[in-house]
Amino acid sequence: MGATRTLVVATHNRGKLREYAELLAELPATFISLADLGIQAEPEEEHVGFAENARLKALFFARLTGEMTLADDSGLEADALGGDPGVRSARYSGAGRTDRERYELLLSRLGEIPPEARTARFRCAIAVASPQGVLFTVEGTCEGVITTRPRGSHGFGYDPVFYVTERGQTMAELEPAVKNRISHRARAAQAAIPLLRAALGG
Ligand code: IMP
Repeated sequence: MGATRTLVVATHNRGKLREYAELLAELPATFISLADLGIQAEPEEEHVGFAENARLKALFFARLTGEMTLADDSGLEADALGGDPGVRSARYSGAGRTDRERYELLLSRLGEIPPEARTARFRCAIAVASPQGVLFTVEGTCEGVITTRPRGSHGFGYDPVFYVTERGQTMAELEPAVKNRISHRARAAQAAIPLLRAALGG
């Protein structure tokens, strides 16, 4: 087996770093976060699409750190709302709001729309860049339906109002280990593994 390479995960969130370190554990890489490197700079997010935002972030931090960098962008797309909240998922209803305020806004925008028209998906784009340029981008999705009221206490964000069709439970009712197998992030990470293995030269 070749030498272990450093892979910067473009996040300050130690939970996200740990999640990627677990999802990508089979790779010959040491995972470090922006917090580990003491980096506070942030690129301008352009809000055009998940893949574009992930590429922008990966390249920005690869150039800043001089290391291969993985960045992601994710969110929820509701079909009846033309894909909203989409890339604005974290800021839906305005800055400084809570997860609950955001999913309540989503429920009120969907109003009385019937279940068959409440289809939605979580989408995650992962981009990997070296200082020379973007190496690849992959995506993962998890399909579901927006409920009319919240259920479950695990997870975060929109999990209580996202019914995962293939499991018959909301994302917040699923055990975290189950969510971490079927989530949009897990699926994007699975798609990234062979490409990352080649990029790391392992
Ligand atoms: P980010 O890609 O970590 O910035 O996520 C953007 C936003 O999308 C989060 O703040 C959440 O509102 C939403 N989101 C992303 N992934 C999930 C998830 O697994 N469950 C619930 N909400 C999510």
